[in-house]
Amino acid sequence: MTPLEIAGLILLVALFLILVLGSMRLKIPRKSSFQGIVDPEAVEEYDRVSRMPQFWLLKSFVKKLEIYTVEGSITDVGCGSGILLGLIAKEWSTIKLVGVDISKEMLERARANFESSGLGGRAEFKEGSSDRLPFEDQTQDFVVSTLSLHHWADPESAFNEIHRVLKPGGKMLVLDLRRDARRVFFWLVWFGQNVAFRIIGLVALRRVNEPTGSLLASYTSQEITDIMSKASFSNWKIDAKLGWMYIYGVKSTIKTEKGK
Ligand SMILES: C[S@@+](CC[C@H](N)C(=O)[O-])C[C@H]1O[C@@H](n2cnc3c(N)ncnc32)[C@H](O)[C@@H]1O
Repeated sequence: MTPLEIAGLILLVALFLILVLGSMRLKIPRKSSFQGIVDPEAVEEYDRVSRMPQFWLLKSFVKKLEIYTVEGSITDVGCGSGILLGLIAKEWSTIKLVGVDISKEMLERARANFESSGLGGRAEFKEGSSDRLPFEDQTQDFVVSTLSLHHWADPESAFNEIHRVLKPGGKMLVLDLRRDARRVFFWLVWFGQNVAFRIIGLVALRRVNEPTGSLLASYTSQEITDIMSKASFSNWKIDAKLGWMYIYGVKSTIKTEKGK
């Protein structure tokens, strides 16, 4: 065999191994994460990262929202610096927008983002936690959340809380990472944090082990199935993807055994 043929063979074997090993799912115990992002430097860096094109998950979330009828208001739990609400504001010009976050620092950044993009009057930002939402019963039309669930201390209480504040017929769409991701997704996340973030000079996010820590703190689709089976929603489904999942729920318009 010529050296070129040997190199080609090695490359083929390596590619084969990457494809086979990369398509296997991660099987690791959950390592819980901190609740709010409060370090001002991490807040700034998170805001910067979520505007990058590589952060396409939020844009795909808006596309997914388009499938459902969006009317009245949208409430984003764990809204962070308000990037998702900004995208929604552009798509639906008459919808009322509300952002809730446990971190005052994130909310400050969200308000500043809305002001600077001329959307100041469109959204209201409130401090609150997923298991104690700052709303009366049956007042919200559509509750959404992206990449926040893995931070919540008690997801079952949070889903019950979302159910409590939704109007009958109100909807919920939650997007989060899934720990039973394909290994190739985990490698990409790890590479992003340890190589790409280093190159572009992101220090604070790496210090708090983001985004790898978020993936390891996220739930498997089976764990979420178990949690949703116990929570108040009687009509829900999970759409699990390569390394993330959507959890969709509707609050029943009639009193069911589960719907408290
Ligand atoms: C990774 S960021 C995601 C921000 C935004 N949703 C996005 O997709 O870019 C997670 C956010 O959830 C917030 N958070 C964490 N635990 C929370 C809780 N229990 N209730 C409300 N917000 C929470 C954090 O402060 C942070 O802003």
